[in-house]
Amino acid sequence: MTDKTPKLRPVLDSVPSYKPGRPAAADGPAAYKLSSNENPYPPLPGVMERAIAAAAEFNRYPDLTCAGLLAELSDRFDVPISHLATGTGSVGIAQQLVQSTSGPGDEVIFAWRSFEAYPIVTQIAGATPVPVPLTEDEGHDLEAMAAAITDRTRLIFVCNPNNPTGTVVRRAELEAFLDRVPSDILVVLDEAYREFIRDEDVPDGIDLYRDRPNVCVLRTFSKAYGLAGLRVGFAVAHDPVAAALRKTAVPFGVTQISQEAAIASLRSEEALAERVAALVEERTRVVEGLVGQGWTVPESHANFVWLRMGERTADFAAACERGGVIVRPFAPDGVRITIGETEANTLFLKAAEEFRKQL
Ligand SMILES: Cc1ncc(COP(=O)(O)O)c(C=O)c1O
Repeated sequence: MTDKTPKLRPVLDSVPSYKPGRPAAADGPAAYKLSSNENPYPPLPGVMERAIAAAAEFNRYPDLTCAGLLAELSDRFDVPISHLATGTGSVGIAQQLVQSTSGPGDEVIFAWRSFEAYPIVTQIAGATPVPVPLTEDEGHDLEAMAAAITDRTRLIFVCNPNNPTGTVVRRAELEAFLDRVPSDILVVLDEAYREFIRDEDVPDGIDLYRDRPNVCVLRTFSKAYGLAGLRVGFAVAHDPVAAALRKTAVPFGVTQISQEAAIASLRSEEALAERVAALVEERTRVVEGLVGQGWTVPESHANFVWLRMGERTADFAAACERGGVIVRPFAPDGVRITIGETEANTLFLKAAEEFRKQL
């Protein structure tokens, strides 16, 4: 045995690790997990049957091209198949997009705080993260993001709605921003929570991508569609970008079970709409409850709410856990609470009320 270890890229020393939302411990006080923006509903009608049928053949590799799913997506969103790419969750695609555009010396701009994978995937590629602070009202500061562009910028993430604050960028503001970004810089509109938006002034990224070759839209089956455990997301982008995604994909990354489940989910539109509507209703109840208790809550357009707790972040998360729900602390900024089962949301509101009384 030698004492030498394999030479790893030094950049990995500074890559933060992804912290998943904690699950509820079997023997702990909390029964509900509101820490990962998951969907509390079981799979949509028809999904289990199709997934189980696919499972019977998992001695075979999946369809590398995801042909059935791409055909379905192409029809649904009226985009050519060549403009679509699938990946192991949209986070997998985000990583491929950075790999495809950026390396050492290049810069990737994103709002901060936003999705915690952005700095990670940027640093893994050896590129430099350029986090741009959110505005006072917890939204993207597109003015500052445009001002942060340099000749080293290769990619800009716009998370709409933003995780973890739930805020949105509206049409006029986003179009004006896109008009300012040089056309050789890729803008990724991450719309993981798109289905929960009720504000008609928030643009659909797929409308914006059509005449903008430097725009790529990310969507996922993990949130509204409830397939987080199956890891399937997709991107809509013009040919050179979509082709780069096909090249950088891990071969056979999206399993056949995932492909079939995604197809069945797309065909279960009515049940999806009902579930999303119920979650949006619960979101309103939670926000109104919190505001009634005296909290300041940014308007949420996603399946979670955000409380800027500052130094009380960890204490608040611990109080929620004692009250029966695991939430997601992002110290030292605040706490994100997923909208879950009705009972979980009620337990959360009670815990928040108790905590408030003791301030
Ligand atoms: C903004 C945003 N983008 C992408 C993802 C990744 O989702 P998935 O990889 O499950 O598709 C998440 C998940 O939390 C997210 O919040």
